[in-house]
Amino acid sequence: MIFAANFKTNNTRAYTKEYMEILNNFVKDNDINDDVFVFPSFTALDNFKSSDNIRVGAQNAYPVQNGSYTGEIGLDQLKEFKINSILIGHSERRTILKESQETIVEKFNYFKDKGFEIIYCIGEPKEIRDEGVNSAMEYLWDEFDGIDLGYEKLIVAYEPIWAIGTGVSAKREDIDEILSNLRVRVKSPLLYGGSVKSSNIKEIVDIKDCDGVLVGSASWKVESFCEIIKNGIKG
Ligand code: PGA
Repeated sequence: MIFAANFKTNNTRAYTKEYMEILNNFVKDNDINDDVFVFPSFTALDNFKSSDNIRVGAQNAYPVQNGSYTGEIGLDQLKEFKINSILIGHSERRTILKESQETIVEKFNYFKDKGFEIIYCIGEPKEIRDEGVNSAMEYLWDEFDGIDLGYEKLIVAYEPIWAIGTGVSAKREDIDEILSNLRVRVKSPLLYGGSVKSSNIKEIVDIKDCDGVLVGSASWKVESFCEIIKNGIKG
């Protein structure tokens, strides 16, 4: 299983340090071999000492090594902290930050070229889901335009926009239906994201094509994220 924590614009540098220590001890003490990712805010990035199966990644970056891009960070800043994982295509960047598919593809190609592990996010709005599974799939496949599905370090996160941050996850059968449709073309690990918490993680990881979760709000406190990992480990 893959458990990924997306801090978004939450948690300070001081708390992130404490978080990483507690998470690392939890993973070691419980012999957890599943893949755990943490995506902190930029100001909290650091060279954390942690188990090999815990990876710290970037929530975003500009597709350059360095240069004049006010407010952005590039490869040099990520390399300083040995960061090799990145989130691309998150719906908050697509909608709030107005990232176009073209920009997303540019970022994807740049970080693919640099050998990054890419968690590529897709997700449909409510009105599209309400039209039925065919409309949803059409919308989702469009979000793969220009994306190399054969990239060996690709992980795909399906996050219905209407389930993000609402406290109400998509229904088990809806997730199942979308993931099995995605599986026809996507051979990479498939994650689900959208109001994942310790109380619903079990039924989500039990879904046939689900290889893990991308967690927002319920990952911001370390105790809550550890509880999700504990309840979500298969077997
Ligand atoms: P959420 O966010 O868990 O708060 O719904 C998920 C995400 O945006 O990755």
